Amino acid sequence: MQFEVFTLLPEVFPSYLETSILKRARERGLIRVNVHNIRDYAHDKHHTTDDQPYGGGGGMVMKPEPVFEAVESALGTSAPGSEIPVILLTPQGRVFNQEVAKELSQHPRLALLCGRYEGVDERIRQRLATDEISIGDYVLTGGELPALILIDAVSRLLPNVLGDPTGAEDDSHAMGLLEYPHYTRPPVFRGDAVPEALLSGDHKRIDRWRREQALERTFRKRPDMLERADLSDADRKFLKSLTSNLQP
Ligand code: ADE
Repeated sequence: MQFEVFTLLPEVFPSYLETSILKRARERGLIRVNVHNIRDYAHDKHHTTDDQPYGGGGGMVMKPEPVFEAVESALGTSAPGSEIPVILLTPQGRVFNQEVAKELSQHPRLALLCGRYEGVDERIRQRLATDEISIGDYVLTGGELPALILIDAVSRLLPNVLGDPTGAEDDSHAMGLLEYPHYTRPPVFRGDAVPEALLSGDHKRIDRWRREQALERTFRKRPDMLERADLSDADRKFLKSLTSNLQP
């Protein structure tokens, strides 16, 4: 997977991309992240990338020319309408989730446009972006953190990026449920013991315990997710026992 990131703050990216799983994925050639500085494509003396909004009002607006040039130079002039998604990170976009991450992971290449200032010239949204994604209903100062979040979530889904081949499948949200609780040593910490089922060595019992914990957590914390989850008859029976015995 190749990510092409377009930003006015390229210095934001390396520290996160040089750690942990993403670092290893890059070293192993599983992902590649090219960070393009939009300012390099502004040709006036001051390398201007923003300007005042027509119609007045506060704030500055990202100019279209350097953004179009940066994207077209990295992707080829056929960028608008080409096969490579050009994703504008904006609070106005469709909300990012595991399903969207999965969808994006099917592409070999993604372009990520990070907005700054008060906004971007509307023609960028209309004629350059093919998709708009928000990471949640709050406003950040720019699209850089959202772009890193998208790169992280998508990369984890690519073959061989996680050491454990079942890693991404068991993650919260991947199976449509919140994840079951994890424990490691010591067996008792400040009076709290690891649940007996996990120490039993009985893998069937451990699997059942984990599934039930995932179901119960989702029921308590995110009941909305249960409507979309892939549930077996046994799962439904367990959930029914919760609704009759417990208050969420
Ligand atoms: N830029 C500013 N806020 C954002 C958000 N919530 N999601 C994506 N991009 C953004």
